[in-house]
Amino acid sequence: MPMTSKPLKILYVCSEVSPLVKTGGLGDVSYALPRTLRSLGHDVRVAMPCYGTIPFEVRGAQVAMCIADMGWTTAYGALRQTHVPGTSVPLYLVEHDGYFDRPNPYGGPEGEYWDNVERFSFFNLALLDGIANTGWTPDLVHCHDWHAALIPAHIKTRLARHPVWGGMPTLFTIHNLGYQGRYAGGMFPKTGLSWEYFTPEHLEFYAGINLMKAGIVFADALSTVSRRYAVEIQTPEYGHGLDGVLRTRAKDLYGIVNGVDYDKWNPACDPRIAATFTADAVEGKVVCKSDLQRHCDFPKSQAPLFGMVSRLTWQKGIDLLVDMIDAMLEQDVQLVVLGNGDAYYQDRMAQSARRHPKRMRLFLGYDDVLAHRIYAGSDFFLMPSHTEPCGLSQLYSLAYGTLPIVRRTGGLADTVQPVTRANLARNKATGFAFSAATATALSSAVNRAIALYDDKKTLAQMRRAAMLEDFSWKHSSQEYERLYRKVVRKHVS
Ligand code: ADP
Ligand code: GLC
Repeated sequence: MPMTSKPLKILYVCSEVSPLVKTGGLGDVSYALPRTLRSLGHDVRVAMPCYGTIPFEVRGAQVAMCIADMGWTTAYGALRQTHVPGTSVPLYLVEHDGYFDRPNPYGGPEGEYWDNVERFSFFNLALLDGIANTGWTPDLVHCHDWHAALIPAHIKTRLARHPVWGGMPTLFTIHNLGYQGRYAGGMFPKTGLSWEYFTPEHLEFYAGINLMKAGIVFADALSTVSRRYAVEIQTPEYGHGLDGVLRTRAKDLYGIVNGVDYDKWNPACDPRIAATFTADAVEGKVVCKSDLQRHCDFPKSQAPLFGMVSRLTWQKGIDLLVDMIDAMLEQDVQLVVLGNGDAYYQDRMAQSARRHPKRMRLFLGYDDVLAHRIYAGSDFFLMPSHTEPCGLSQLYSLAYGTLPIVRRTGGLADTVQPVTRANLARNKATGFAFSAATATALSSAVNRAIALYDDKKTLAQMRRAAMLEDFSWKHSSQEYERLYRKVVRKHVS
């Protein structure tokens, strides 16, 4: 693609990058967006902590020392440089075994690691120091979620006169306002900021620290991962207590929908599924369904097969599902769920699966290959989220001709076209949507899907429309490019 203006140098800072570390959609986005921006000619470099689970052979060489002066203590680490696997995107890893050589990025079954504020404060400060030592200077720093939210705060405060970071433009992207990085006020010194910023105008939030707020208050521009969520988070219902501060920044807040990496999520060439298929030749999907039914030990059946791949948390509407699941399973349907999360929901689902062994199968854990098989082999995909900033799972389902059943919120509302007469007439209907956050509303959406399943002509029409949707990163990455340029220009003028 021809560049119309100078390529940009972007430092992209986040806490997970697939396939090295992924707990959800952020990992997928941090793999695909930088890769697409790079293909547009920009010098995008990604940075994340060097978690202990990252194999030594892919960590690359040390390119700088880094020192994090957190005020109350100084911690020393190393900056390594490698590539995001399978791409030409440079990846910086901030290494400090004391903070990051642990089995998980954020915490274990007992909850978050007790020292997360210090771990991510170190990551932010050490990264800024390390990058300054490499000699490479970005045009803009793009920070993601609370794990990188202290960077805009440091750039605007203690580093305001720093030779590299003074005046550096920043963009802060919110992937999920439900996770804010909140800690006791007494831990404030760990942020490395002076106490004058422990005020309601800055990081203080109901007497505690709120790291997400640092990004929202100090970044030059803000974005989130769908247009609808950008509007929702400015309301008390979806603002998680931050709607007020977000409203004060409304003119700098943008919604850019996530994309799909069709190199990885593509039924036409996916090596993880039993048979490939396309919108024009869907026979392979039948093979994928049989394969999934076998894997679930379901009897061979023509019944509609519902799939779900999800974190099992309240955000994802699992409470609605567990309240209607037994009634749903009284009908001639099959349901496969892959997920992990809250013990309560895991137990409730396991009980339903035990009661209906021929109709429901629950796989607890994280399994990328099985996720692909579920997207490919199911007829319908359940995503009844209470809130959904964007959601990638429904986009993957669409790509595999599996019709999503979603609650009308955030990115789900922006990306799934519900089955209405008008949408069917335009050949645009791709799924089912409901509004009330109740088990009854979910049940009736599921029942609409079951009824439609017998209308094979409409089913085929919707499946085709779903598969023909184009959510590639090309469009969204250009929106990011425009936003980057806007922020950088604002600084120059
Ligand atoms: P979120 O980031 O809120 O979890 P998204 O829909 O944006 O939701 O992204 C979820 C990503 O994580 C998708 O790639 C989905 O396939 C994957 N995923 C979620 N749970 C599992 C699991 N148990 N096993 C494998 N992949 C999973
Ligand atoms: C978050 C959101 C999800 C979004 C993902 C990537 O985890 O919950 O909706 O798709 O981030 O932006």
